[in-house]
Formats: sequence, structure tokens, C-alpha cells
Amino acid sequence: MGEVVGRSFVVWLTGLSGAGKTTVARGLAEALRVRGISKLEVLDGDAVRENLSKGLGFSKEDRDTNVARIAFVAQLLARNDVNVIVAAISPYAEARAAARERIGEGFVEVHVDCGLPELVRRDVKGLYAKALAGELAHFTGVSDPYEAPENPDVRVSSEGQSVEESVGAIVAFLEARGRL
Ligand code: PPS
Ligand code: ADP
Ligand code: MG
Repeated sequence: MGEVVGRSFVVWLTGLSGAGKTTVARGLAEALRVRGISKLEVLDGDAVRENLSKGLGFSKEDRDTNVARIAFVAQLLARNDVNVIVAAISPYAEARAAARERIGEGFVEVHVDCGLPELVRRDVKGLYAKALAGELAHFTGVSDPYEAPENPDVRVSSEGQSVEESVGAIVAFLEARGRL
């Protein structure tokens, strides 16, 4: 299959629903475009599930399939010098490790962290209320597991940091790695 060679990167945002993956992905994409990075795609879990992964559910098997598909597309893009930002819960460490292996040096794992009480307070999509009421099986963080990265390349928090600060930390990491 072969790892991606070259200078492109795949910033992989993992975290619970509502933690801020989509928000940080958009902020990061904007910041990178301002810096002149024009070859850039965002692969967001919600959009992937409406298209590439339509019909998949939230069992471990389906999530692993979803994450493997995202990693495959990210690899295709990255090896053609298109930078990628992934925003997917990707709850299983093994599936994330497989994505890293597939993509190689340009893979940057970012944990978008946020505590459960704050997520329940935000409840952007109303999913936590349903899950806590027992109406949503397999809901990550409530009725389904989330294996937080033990050693992410970058950890940001939507409780302790602004979106700008989180974006800045990721940009700084990419710079330090010589990817920007
Ligand atoms: S995964 O685990 O990586 O395959 O998930 P992902 O593709 O990122 O899809 C997550 C979005 O699906 C919505 N949703 C759920 N998330 C988690 N658990 C359950 N049961 C669930 N049902 C629907 C939700 O909108 C997630 O988007 P985000 O942006 O994370 O809130
Ligand atoms: P996810 O894609 O992980 O489900 P979203 O980006 O859709 O998360 O939702 C995160 C919510 O939290 C948004 O309503 C966003 O405005 C809010 N939020 C507040 N502070 C932050 C922050 N520092 N970083 C990211 N999101 C934040
Ligand atoms: Mg999202």
C-alpha cells in the first residue's frame, strides 16, 4: 500500500461528539488558506456518513469501516500533495493507529478534548439528552466507548482554549515538523 511520501499532512481530529472537531477543522482550514495552503480538503465524519459511508451505523465494526475508509481517502489525497483535515470521532485506538500506519510521517493526531459535563451542557445536536435518557444506544461517551489517545501529537481542549488557540497549537506543530 505504501506510506505517503512528500510534505503533505493529514491532521486527524479525534474526540467526542460536540467536543469541537468540526469547529476546529473549519478554523484550521481557514488559517491554512490564509497562509497560502490552497490544496486542502476537510473530511468531516458527518459529511462522510452522508456520502462515502452512507448506511453505516455505530457498531464497532461499522465505525472501524468508516474510519478505514476515511484513512484510505486521506492517503489518496495526501499522496497527490493535497493536505487533509479529518474530523471524526474515531473512538478506537487501533483504527487510529492503522490510519497512522497507512499515512506515515505526515499523520498528525489531535485530541479535541472536552469533559462530559460540558458536552451535556452544550448538547449542540440534542444527542446527549437522548443518550442519557436511554433512547440512543451506542452513543460515544455515554453508551459506547471512547478510547482517548494516550500520546496524541497535539491535545487541545474546547473548555480551556479558544478556537484560535487550538488552531494556533496545531499550526505550530505543523511548523515544528517542517510541514508548513
Ligand atoms: S466514527 O465513530 O468516527 O465512525 O463517527 P463519525 O463518522 O465521526 O460520526 C459521528 C457523527 O455522527 C452523529 N452521531 C453519533 N455519534 C456518535 N455516536 C452515535 N451513536 C451517533 N449517532 C449519530 C454525530 O452527529 C457525530 O458527529 P459529531 O460531529 O462528532 O457530533
Ligand atoms: P464536533 O464536531 O466535535 O461534534 P462541533 O464543532 O460541532 O463539535 O461543536 C462544538 C461546539 O462547541 C460548537 O457549538 C462550538 O461553537 C462550541 N465551542 C465553544 N468553545 C469552543 C472551542 N474552544 N473549540 C471548539 N468548539 C468550541
Ligand atoms: Mg462534527
